[in-house]
Amino acid sequence: GAAANLRPGRNVIAVRVTNSTGPAGLTLGIFQSYFGGEFETITPTEWLCSDKLAKGWNTPKFSAKGWVKAKVVGQPGDAPWGEVAQEVDGPRRSQMLRKEFELPAEVVRARAYVSGLGYYELRLNGFRVGDDVFTPGWTQYEKRIQYQVYDVTDLLKIGRNAVGAILGNGWWSSGLGWAGGMERHAKPGENLRFLLQLEVECTDGSKHVIVTDSSWAAHLSPIVEDTLYHGETHDARLEQPGWDKPRFDAKDWQPVKIVKDPLRKLCAQRGPTLRVTEELYPVKITEPKPGVYVLDFGQNHPGRPKLTVKAPRGTTIRMVHAEYLKPDGTLERANYRSARVTDTYICKGSGVEVWEPRFTYRGFRYMQVTGLPSKPDRTTIVSRVLHSAPPMAGTFECSNPLLNRILKNVRWGQRSNMHSVPTDCPQRDERLGWMGDAQAFAPTSIWNMDMALFFTKWMRDILEAQQPDGAVPGVCPNVGDWVIGPGRSAWADAITIIPWYVYVYYGDRQILEQAFPGVRKWVEYMQTKLSKDGLYEEPTWGDWVPVEPTPDRPIAAMFGYHSTNLLAHMAQILGKKKDADRYRKLAEAQRRAFNKKYLKPDNNYVTATQTSNILPLAFGMVEPDRQQAVADNIAKDVKKHGGHHTTGFLGTAFILPVLAQHGHADLAYGIVNTDEYPSLGYMIKKGATTIWERWNTDQMGPGMNSRNHFAFGSMAQWFYEGLAGLNPDPEQPGFKHVIVRPYIVGDLKWVRADYPTLYGRLASEWKREKGSLRLRVTIPPNTTATVCLPARDVARVTESGQPLTQAPGVTVKGPEGDRLLVRVAAGTYEFVIQQ
Ligand code: BGC
Repeated sequence: GAAANLRPGRNVIAVRVTNSTGPAGLTLGIFQSYFGGEFETITPTEWLCSDKLAKGWNTPKFSAKGWVKAKVVGQPGDAPWGEVAQEVDGPRRSQMLRKEFELPAEVVRARAYVSGLGYYELRLNGFRVGDDVFTPGWTQYEKRIQYQVYDVTDLLKIGRNAVGAILGNGWWSSGLGWAGGMERHAKPGENLRFLLQLEVECTDGSKHVIVTDSSWAAHLSPIVEDTLYHGETHDARLEQPGWDKPRFDAKDWQPVKIVKDPLRKLCAQRGPTLRVTEELYPVKITEPKPGVYVLDFGQNHPGRPKLTVKAPRGTTIRMVHAEYLKPDGTLERANYRSARVTDTYICKGSGVEVWEPRFTYRGFRYMQVTGLPSKPDRTTIVSRVLHSAPPMAGTFECSNPLLNRILKNVRWGQRSNMHSVPTDCPQRDERLGWMGDAQAFAPTSIWNMDMALFFTKWMRDILEAQQPDGAVPGVCPNVGDWVIGPGRSAWADAITIIPWYVYVYYGDRQILEQAFPGVRKWVEYMQTKLSKDGLYEEPTWGDWVPVEPTPDRPIAAMFGYHSTNLLAHMAQILGKKKDADRYRKLAEAQRRAFNKKYLKPDNNYVTATQTSNILPLAFGMVEPDRQQAVADNIAKDVKKHGGHHTTGFLGTAFILPVLAQHGHADLAYGIVNTDEYPSLGYMIKKGATTIWERWNTDQMGPGMNSRNHFAFGSMAQWFYEGLAGLNPDPEQPGFKHVIVRPYIVGDLKWVRADYPTLYGRLASEWKREKGSLRLRVTIPPNTTATVCLPARDVARVTESGQPLTQAPGVTVKGPEGDRLLVRVAAGTYEFVIQQ
């Protein structure tokens, strides 16, 4: 974010450190800048410091006479990777742990209860247990750590058995955050940990419990480096064949150290685990320089290589990753910033070797390989796609291939950014649970995948990341105060919005019960920070990376209202009458104050940008008699911009429904049916296979510029809800009652979508025919729907060939605006509307 402050010539980095109780301390990382094509890293090594504030101290011209040379406290992990001692605050060296034990009889049943920090891979008698990756998953580790349970009956046997584990750094101790990944959950001296309870029942009735204790032995693993951002280095020469099998000679293994401060509060696995869901083969292999091969996997995705190779001992094969290429065909990696995304395999030289890193992943499309003994073919390296893997959910398809393609990109963007928590991006030195992104994209993600458990788990992480005063950080899990920005609106508000969506789309009242105390604390926190106008106007990241910026503080006020209003609804639903009254009143007061301060006589809010007007409409802040005029102002502005939106993360999530609901559906369709800048289609025209972080990613320098951020994919919500017309009804959540309201727009000839609600399949399909429109809807058992037909005259509509008024299961409610409302019971209906 500092780019705007840098200029050609001399610059100064100045830091003021305050600390009221002890000596001031400061840790400085790596500053990186992008100067007209050159990516430069400035590692500050020498600083001057003073305890007096002099005028101009932070400008380049200042003469620092009398200032003393300060000692820099740098990242202790500045030592070469892999040589970092276990005790310092750097990534830890991967360890193997093992134990052997006897079983007197065949096994009837056996279960492993297992956890660790950062990642563990459990092995029994030479086999890997389960197919989950990155276990135990990412939570707010300081508060809660998940454990997994595996049925391991088939892996144990009578006689001697061996249990083993390999540990890696993962989210716990890899180092996270920009500026070199300086933030760690693990504190100095906190090493990798492992916890196991193996419960076995044998045919002779005996029961055995094998647990982690001082009888276990440990050894460094062949993984000499592993971090999320930088990748993994595996020296196969250090492998110890048979280490995870019985009768292994473990004489040079050390006894394990029992950790006094055990794992924090454990909880069972909360959401879906991460898995490898697919393998991608390269679609193209080039050799831009002799011996340097570039593999194009054809798709930006979250993955890691699986290498199959036969090469002499000591051959070092390096695989580096990127999202796009330089003109000379080699990798452009500057937008990964400090993340080195490099996997290295050192061959042991014994026949065909197959290797896949265990403890790392990244988003990429291209892989550059060096060190191979010969030219690779399609099967030398495949990419293993991995992410949190709940089942896929809805489908959408229409006659416009561009929209279908957009949805494909959106889905890849989603899979790329589900790694135990929703992340902003999968590639550069962030991959963090940025909450503004996730809440904006949440409904779209719900249509695409079954997100109920994933969000329920993350909501608990958020509650655990909440500060004692009620402030909510901007990322969750929170890995350092630098990203807290206590109470940044639209990010922090995920604490309210995520459970609300889970309630609306899945009908889960329990999530509201669980979230309620935290949401109330958050809303009460905002109450303590109200401006003199009675609004929550604290700084926030606002309408992030828009075409036209909107001031952040009024946006904070809008979200302040939104959370308070949703809290009132939650209280009402949960039967908390007093709370409902209090928050309804507080919300109403904010709504009035907001309109007083920010609504202009010309029916524009704030600075009249699209986002200024979209959010008040989306959140229900606008008086009924002015809603149409405000919406018309958005429409005017869209036309002024040649049919384009100018919104960032926040406005984009609502622009299409807000326009459509106010008679501008064709304009909404136009915003997605274009490949001119700015649009999702433009990204695709420029080669995107996922969704970019910025509308103008191709025109910007690489610093903060990912090609795989899901946030702008939020437009796809309207494909399902607007074009196909499938909408949940918050009054009867979880699709108990469905509102079917399709927009028949533009050049679209047909649309079809379906969605597996908890009651069964919900579907809608429409098609223009000669002089008529055919709409087929399927309403799941035990639910009802209101179908808002694009028709005015009952006489011109039939259902399954019968006049509408006589069709079984259909009750005509009457006209509403330009629609004819009918109520239907569960079943499949085929409406034909004469036009
Ligand atoms: C992230 C965004 C995030 C933002 C907040 C960025 O660096 O990638 O997606 O929401 O910071 O300011």
